[in-house]
Amino acid sequence: ARSISCVKHLAESPNLSSIPSNYIYHTDPAQTELQASIPVIDFSLLTSHNPHHKAKAIHDLDQACQDWGFFILVNHGMPEELRQGVLEAAAEFFNLSEAEKPEFEPENVLSPIRYGTSFNAATDVVFCWRDFLKVFVHPHFVSPHKPQSLRQLLPEYCERSRDVVATLSKAISQSLGLEETEMEKELELRSSLQIFVANYYPRCPNPEAAMGILPHSDHGLFTLLIQNDVGGLQIQHHQRWFNVNPPPNSILVNTGDHLEIFSNGKYKSVLHRAVVNDKTARISIATANGPCLDAEVAPARRLVEGRGGMVAAYAAMKYKDYLLEQQSGQLDGKTMLKRV
Ligand code: SIN
Ligand code: FE2
Repeated sequence: ARSISCVKHLAESPNLSSIPSNYIYHTDPAQTELQASIPVIDFSLLTSHNPHHKAKAIHDLDQACQDWGFFILVNHGMPEELRQGVLEAAAEFFNLSEAEKPEFEPENVLSPIRYGTSFNAATDVVFCWRDFLKVFVHPHFVSPHKPQSLRQLLPEYCERSRDVVATLSKAISQSLGLEETEMEKELELRSSLQIFVANYYPRCPNPEAAMGILPHSDHGLFTLLIQNDVGGLQIQHHQRWFNVNPPPNSILVNTGDHLEIFSNGKYKSVLHRAVVNDKTARISIATANGPCLDAEVAPARRLVEGRGGMVAAYAAMKYKDYLLEQQSGQLDGKTMLKRV
């Protein structure tokens, strides 16, 4: 099989003093560094038995999704050992020798285990300073068979992430004025697609000229992100780029394109990108949590039906078709949503 040349290997080559030209990305003119103050949501309150606490938490979540499309979850119940363990296991995966990784290279963009570089090395014009491992972990669980640490921790990490998402889905359903279970029913979340994505951004000799991942919005409903305490994520807010530095122990969450569709535009997905640095390799783990792959995603029925309903602002689209198209091309901002 053909074998990719990962950027980790390139970055570790002796005497690399500048990046190859296919990695040069022309960023916007230098901007002042802006620090985002992302809203913090106390996850435990979303399931509080005190109705006032719960209502307040749902209200805060609603505001965060409307204002930023990003929020920081604290008291999320994910054990710190597991969070750190998964980050370390991802590091071990990328540290496997060059001879050990080709077996994880995919046949196509829907292959359940996909080790690669850039976003889609077959089609990218500008290469991203990033290697990745994507694993489809739900509704059918698979795992790379090595490293052993990853194989051991992946099931629990993914299951606990889905528990977080299940609670968020119920809360968001309510903040849209729907019944608690309406979103999970309409989008068939019992068979939800969940993809575990580990990103490795090596140290880069010209960090200002390269990009770890190009600006994009996420597919799916909610992406959960953790990182090895090295910053790099930037999000767009009021047309400007902000650095995001989530506190230790937290989980960063952002809303995706399919929540934008389901909410009929109330919760817009937000452009984000990852910059790189010349000091420390950065590892991030994003779990993408979508509808069922076969679900036809449209604005929530009850939002758009009847005389009092809104006009549907998005065309219905099968999640699988969206995903195939997005993963097959060059990442290019927020171009995948079909508004009507
Ligand atoms: C992503 O958007 O897929 C990754 C973002 C990050 O590494 O922070
Ligand atoms: Fe993303």
